[in-house]
Amino acid sequence: MSKTAILELDGKKYEFPVFVGTENEVAIDINKLRDVSGAITLDPGYKNSGACKSEITFLDGEEGILRYRGYAIEDLAEKANFLEVTYLLIFGELPKKSDLERFETDIRKYTLVNEEMKNIIDGFPKTAHPMGVLAALTSALTAFNPKSVNPENEKDLYEAICKTIGKFLVIATWTYRKSMGYPLNYYDNTKGYVDNFMNLMFSLPTGPYKIDPVVVNALDKLFILHADHEQNCSTSTVRMVGSSHAGLFASISAGVSALWGPLHGGANQAVLEMLDEINKSGGDVEKFILKAKDKNDPFRLMGFGHRVYKNFDPRAKIIKKAADEVLTALGVEDPLLDIAMKLEQAALNDEYFKARSLYPNVDFYSGIIYRALGIPTDMFTVMFAIGRLPGWIAQWKEMRLNKEPIGRPRQVYTGSPLRDFVDMDKR
Ligand code: SDX
Repeated sequence: MSKTAILELDGKKYEFPVFVGTENEVAIDINKLRDVSGAITLDPGYKNSGACKSEITFLDGEEGILRYRGYAIEDLAEKANFLEVTYLLIFGELPKKSDLERFETDIRKYTLVNEEMKNIIDGFPKTAHPMGVLAALTSALTAFNPKSVNPENEKDLYEAICKTIGKFLVIATWTYRKSMGYPLNYYDNTKGYVDNFMNLMFSLPTGPYKIDPVVVNALDKLFILHADHEQNCSTSTVRMVGSSHAGLFASISAGVSALWGPLHGGANQAVLEMLDEINKSGGDVEKFILKAKDKNDPFRLMGFGHRVYKNFDPRAKIIKKAADEVLTALGVEDPLLDIAMKLEQAALNDEYFKARSLYPNVDFYSGIIYRALGIPTDMFTVMFAIGRLPGWIAQWKEMRLNKEPIGRPRQVYTGSPLRDFVDMDKR
């Protein structure tokens, strides 16, 4: 690979260094482009632009590869648990048993959410979408934990990380409890992290709540599969907001808002709504395939396509297999799973989807499992946020410790040239 790239503009040649990553990804370093040539690049959606160097996650969209800190997602999903993967993403190494025990003990120091936070959630109508409530509550955590985090101070940063992991899970479940009119539950420090999720969500003061290990195991795997995905929309948002040195809670809150969109994390809810609509209209998947292909129809096949994966999303493969296993283990018959499989087969054999390398992504099957576990549809993207929290934290930490500059892209102005002001009575 050559060490430099040559750009010719208006008959002049400009040379830029070429950077090659661990997996031979090639980047042209255009840091000096505008200084030397006066020109900038234009790349809406940043389809070809790298925002940073990162040691956290590697994706190969052509080969369908996903690794966290060098470990294959297939191995992590099968052999690790969610807090173990959380530790790996944030601190860079698989934890020893003692490391993981200490990490969980330290998280438990911060699982009590300030009672006054309940006044905030009480201000929301029951009909509020859980993602909007979660974004607000996450930002509100700053008010109750005002000490700003100095990432250079290891103890400071570690405490803020444990605090975020402990409190985010609780407030995420409060969004559901609020929508149901249930009392808000407390984290139980005698239970595991994912067990706590089920307890926080579904235990009621009127009687005992039995946590099903099949459900906990499935959720643990789902959270691992969602934990990081390099510079996706919500993670890039967390890095962008954090680059102004806004706090960790504020940056995560921005990430929650970005994830909410149906083109991103909101797709898992949109997939279930789409499958439900297909089911209600008699299961005619071909009709929806035609709609998805029709340029005059804004309908898209939700859960299909990806900016990076031009092959199968490796997470979709694992989730599809888990969906089968969980529904069988729980004895759940879901017609939507059959429709999803029919839709997948129809799309994968259709020229439009093949020509555009559109395959099922992480959101296509996840909702089927959430539904089987009794999670309501409008909580699906909250589930994604709980899974993605470690990635957001890890990327925010890396960005701050690397002292990345404040994010401030350029633009090309296409508006009106200079014109004289026109007084009101002359307009
Ligand atoms: C996530 O980035 C990440 O890593 C995200 C994520 C993560 O872990 O963080 O993986 C999670 O967000 C997964 C994606 C979930 N979103 C959806 O399932 C929504 C449906 N999919 C799309 O809207 C779309 O595929 C995107 C947003 C995911 C990707 O969009 P791109 O890369 O901008 O692609 P594009 O819109 O330029 O589409 C290219 C072509 C277009 O057709 P042409 O103009 O070339 O004729 O493919 C078509 C699109 O119309 N197309 C689809 C389609 N997705 C793309 N057509 C029908 N149905 C679809 N789902």
